[in-house]
Amino acid sequence: MVNVGVMGTGYVGLVHGAVLSSYGFRVTCMDVDKQKIERLNQGISPIYEPGLEELLQSGLRAGNLVFTASAQQVVQTSDVLFIAVGTPAKEDGSADLSYVWDVVQQIGKHINGHKVIVSKSTMPVGTSRSIAMYLDGMLRGTPYRAHVASNPEFLRQGKAVSDSLSPSRVVIGAESDEAVQMLKKVYATHLEQDVPFLFTNRETAEMIKYASNSFLAVKISFINELALLSEKVGAKIQDIATGMGMDDRISPHFLQAGPGYGGSCFPKDTQAIVDVGRKNGEELYVVRAAIAANEKQKAKMVSKIEETLSFDGTLKGRTVAVWGLTFKPDTDDIRYSPSYEIIQGLLGRGAAVKVYCPQGMKQAKLYWTDLNGRIQYCGSEAECSQQADAIVLMTEWEQFRAANWEKIARGMRGNAFFDMRNMFAGDASVLQWFKYYPVGASEYG
Ligand code: UGA
Repeated sequence: MVNVGVMGTGYVGLVHGAVLSSYGFRVTCMDVDKQKIERLNQGISPIYEPGLEELLQSGLRAGNLVFTASAQQVVQTSDVLFIAVGTPAKEDGSADLSYVWDVVQQIGKHINGHKVIVSKSTMPVGTSRSIAMYLDGMLRGTPYRAHVASNPEFLRQGKAVSDSLSPSRVVIGAESDEAVQMLKKVYATHLEQDVPFLFTNRETAEMIKYASNSFLAVKISFINELALLSEKVGAKIQDIATGMGMDDRISPHFLQAGPGYGGSCFPKDTQAIVDVGRKNGEELYVVRAAIAANEKQKAKMVSKIEETLSFDGTLKGRTVAVWGLTFKPDTDDIRYSPSYEIIQGLLGRGAAVKVYCPQGMKQAKLYWTDLNGRIQYCGSEAECSQQADAIVLMTEWEQFRAANWEKIARGMRGNAFFDMRNMFAGDASVLQWFKYYPVGASEYG
C-alpha cells in the first residue's frame, strides 16, 4: 500500500488527504500551524466544507489519517508527497511561491529514499520543473531520486469533497515512469470509475489549471458585461444565458450574472497568468479584459444601489441590509468576496450597513478589521433587515429561500430588494413584498 504525504492543510491539501484516506491509503498531512494540527487531530476542521469533518473523523478513527507539524515525519513516512501549500498573489499580481520553496527545502533536507513529489497547488508554469532541478541538485551524491510531477486540483469550494470523490478529470504532468505509475496507484479508484485522465508534460498540466480558471473567469465577466447592457436595452440576462447555453458548444454553465467573481482562485489565478504572459513577452488581452470587467461589475453594483436609493446624491440616512459575505454559498471563505467592496462602496457613500451571513461573519470580523465598528453584524436575515431601506442579497445561500418574507418586509423602512444573484427572479411569493432589482434585467415579474 502506498504511503501518502500531504504538505499544507488548506482547502486542497486537507480535502485531498481526507479523500485519499477514505480510499484506504495511509495519509500523513503536515502543516506548520501547530494549533491547526492539534485541532485536526481532534477531528475539528479549520474550514466549513460540507462532508469534510465527517471524513476527517472517520480517517482518524480508522487510524490511517495522521496530522503532524513535523516535516521530517511526513517526508520520511511517505512514498508520494503532495505539495498543497498556498500560492497567494503578491502586490504585483505574480504568485508568491515562498511557501512552496519552504516545503521543497524540507523535502530535500529529510528525504530518505526515492520519492514522487507532486505539485498540487496552483503553480505558475515552469515551477514543477524548477522544483525538480532544485531537488536533483540537492540529492546529487545521494542514492535518492525525486520524481516531480504536476497534478493540478480542480475542486470547487463548497463542493470540495464531492468534487474530489468524483472529479471532472485528472490531469497528470509527469515525465518519468515512476511518477506516472505512482499517480496511477493513488488514483486507482478514479481509473476504475472511468474518470477522464490526461497524461502530459509538467508545463502543460500547470497551464491547464490556469487556462481553466481564466476561461471560467472570462465566461463570468462576459455574461456580467452583457447583464449591464441588458438592463439598458430591456433584455433579460437569465433568458439570454439559457438561450446561449442551449448550444452545447457554449454550455449553460458559468453564465450566471452576478456582482462579480471572487474567492481565492479566480482573482489570483487570472492575475498570475497575465504576469506569466508578460514575463514571456505575451500580453493576455482577453484575461486582462475579464479582470477589468470584474472590477467594473462590482463598482456598477454600488452605483446601481446609489442611483436607486440616494437622496441629495448620497446614501446618508439610508440603511442597507447586506445578506451574504462569503464569495459563494456553502463556504466560510470571504477572500476577495465582492461583498467587501460593495460594503466599502456603500459606507463610502454614507449608508449605514447591517450584515448577515450564515457562515462568513466570523472570518469577516477577523480579517475585514477595517469594517469593525463601521458595520453592524446581525444574527439572522430578519434582524439584519429591521428598519433597513433595502436588502442587498450578495450570496445565494439556500437558507434565504426559507425567509419569512412578509415579516421581513413589514419590519423594513423601505422596500428595495437588490438581488445580486437573481435568486428570486420570477418568484412572485417573494416579489410581491418588494420593489425588486435583479442583475441584468429591468424587472423579473
Ligand atoms: C474555482 C473553480 O471553479 C475550480 O474548478 C477550481 O479548482 C478552483 O477555483 C481553484 O482553483 O481552486 P471556486 O473558487 O471554489 O472554484 O468557486 P466557483 O464556483 O468557481 O466560483 C468562483 C466565483 O465565481 C464565485 O464568486 C461565484 O459566485 C462566481 N460565479 C460562478 C459567478 O458569478 N457566476 C457563475 O456562473 C459561476
